[in-house]
Amino acid sequence: MPRLADGFINELKERIDLYDLISSYVELKKSGSSWVGLSPFQQEKTPSFYVHPDKGFFKCFSSGETGDAISFVQKMENLDFHESLEFLSQRFNIPLKYEKGNSSQPYVKSIRSDLHSIHEVARDWFMSQLVLKNDESKVALQYWLNDRNFDFQTAKEFGIGYSPTDRFALGKFMRKQNFSIDLLSKSGLFRENLQSGSLVSSFCGRLMIPIHEKLGRICGFTARKLSVTPEWGEKKSPKYINSPETVIFQKGELLFNLHLANKAINEKKDFLLVEGQLDAIRCYIEGFHTVIAPQGTAFKDSQAQLLRKSNPRRVICLLDGDEAGRKAGLKYVPIFLEAGLDACFAILPSGTDPDQILVEKGKKCLQEILEKGIRMIDYVVQNLSAKDNLKTPSVKKDICEFIFKSLIQVKSFVIRESYLEEIANSLAISMESVKTDFLSFERRKRPNSKSSYSSRSNNKSPENGLERLTNVEDDLLFLLLHDNRIAGPLAYLIEPTWLNLESVTGCILAKVFAEIKADGPITTSRIEDLLETDEERKIFQLHLFQEYPPQEKENFLQLANECLSVLFLRSSKKLEERILTRLKDSDDVSSSSSKIRSELKELRKLRNSPPSLSLSVSAN
Ligand code: GTP
Ligand code: MN
Repeated sequence: MPRLADGFINELKERIDLYDLISSYVELKKSGSSWVGLSPFQQEKTPSFYVHPDKGFFKCFSSGETGDAISFVQKMENLDFHESLEFLSQRFNIPLKYEKGNSSQPYVKSIRSDLHSIHEVARDWFMSQLVLKNDESKVALQYWLNDRNFDFQTAKEFGIGYSPTDRFALGKFMRKQNFSIDLLSKSGLFRENLQSGSLVSSFCGRLMIPIHEKLGRICGFTARKLSVTPEWGEKKSPKYINSPETVIFQKGELLFNLHLANKAINEKKDFLLVEGQLDAIRCYIEGFHTVIAPQGTAFKDSQAQLLRKSNPRRVICLLDGDEAGRKAGLKYVPIFLEAGLDACFAILPSGTDPDQILVEKGKKCLQEILEKGIRMIDYVVQNLSAKDNLKTPSVKKDICEFIFKSLIQVKSFVIRESYLEEIANSLAISMESVKTDFLSFERRKRPNSKSSYSSRSNNKSPENGLERLTNVEDDLLFLLLHDNRIAGPLAYLIEPTWLNLESVTGCILAKVFAEIKADGPITTSRIEDLLETDEERKIFQLHLFQEYPPQEKENFLQLANECLSVLFLRSSKKLEERILTRLKDSDDVSSSSSKIRSELKELRKLRNSPPSLSLSVSAN
């Protein structure tokens, strides 16, 4: 991953007026020096969502959410941190700046944006071809309007077009737009074996359906066969042809319509997963706005991850009621379980698809099918039972193991337990038996790991004081972000080994201290540049925007010293434990044991004088 130029994130935030950004989502009214409106994160009647453009942050009192321009976009558009930067960079026309010396990514970036432009131009051209008055264009338009029952408005909305049968036409047009051959040949719009330098279109005589990535930029096409589609040679040409994999078109990383579905999804709504792109378009225009489709290929883990990032309530998979649909459904289960996505399966009458249902029977009919959706576990139980639905003991065991296999990948104990409970209910077996079998299954599959499930659930009360100790890092981060006397001296007083590097805050502190030692005093925006994960950014913002009464600041140095003592004692205790073990292991009379003893003495002596910040530094 290339690094953004130092200070760029801050520059970006400074150049964006938070009011401009947020007011396009929320109606804001002036309130003193800030703005207030209804929370975009949850339903409320009294406005409690405050925007402070001068300070660059927002705060939502009903949901407790707080953050800056970037986190606002992350939440509203369901994007990750880098995607949000790209979004803001586009929206406010501020180019992303990368650190010098790392030229690879900016180069890839610029190719990517050129490829997006090529696709936009191609899409517009295909759209123009759809409405030409020649015979083949008329066939294509007729297909769209009459055979498929779509309208003009939908064609415009989704950028539907037609690629003419003349396989050189697209290339000639694109060359006139001054795109280089090199770039065009990387676009996937043309076949690889370029005949004597001419560009041969990958799609001829087909209905063109653009595919967009998450941010809504067009990155490829899927092209449906029509009666005018030329057949080359013996083999019948396929019903659908997709763009080949390119720098910007990676099928496993994309879902059809995700850019639109993401605008409608929230934690109370379900994604609707259908099989075909035209099914997705039909569902969308009939009001099922959270519909998405894989690109005619098998649904993959990476696509489940894309959905999970958007934090939906569930995914409803619409399956064909035939044998193929049944098999597809069973393949989804491990993917959803392992991605931590709740899912259910709605079954269509055999041999139909959502498009057909909506055209022939209407919205209500599809709605009813969705409401009859079966929860994931019940679906497995129904489909793995023998045809006569006979659940023999060994069938029950197979069903359990099918689910256990995925469940051992799930980290959340709540989720594990919930599914185990569903299995128990669905198979009419006691929860205890299911749990016991699950534990032994887990042990069998992972002999080296002690069963995390049992260790966690038996250990209900964590060691007292542990909680307080893990919070020291948080307190310190808060303090050093709000009092600039603190970070510098702390960097030299705290040994990196004192920090709990398993906690996100511990990692942030370690980076901050290392940076100070290498480069001297540090600013908040520089700290922000050091952050690497969304989790780190979230914690950082939580502390940065945490409000406190001004008089509290007088105590900050003292608080920092308290934290310092706790950290010091914690690490000293750990060290002591280690020394004691060494002592136990060593031979009682050996010289090494006396050395260890004096180490221990030294350590205990030191414990009485924990380090502290000098209180004489003047306040800022
Ligand atoms: P229509 O016949 O246009 O309504 O398509 P459909 O979506 O009803 O087609 P079908 O059920 O045959 O296929 C479902 C999805 O699989 C399609 O939408 C495509 O995404 C994909 N698909 C179907 N046929 C092909 C093919 O020949 N090649 C590829 N790559 N994908 C296909
Ligand atoms: Mn269909």
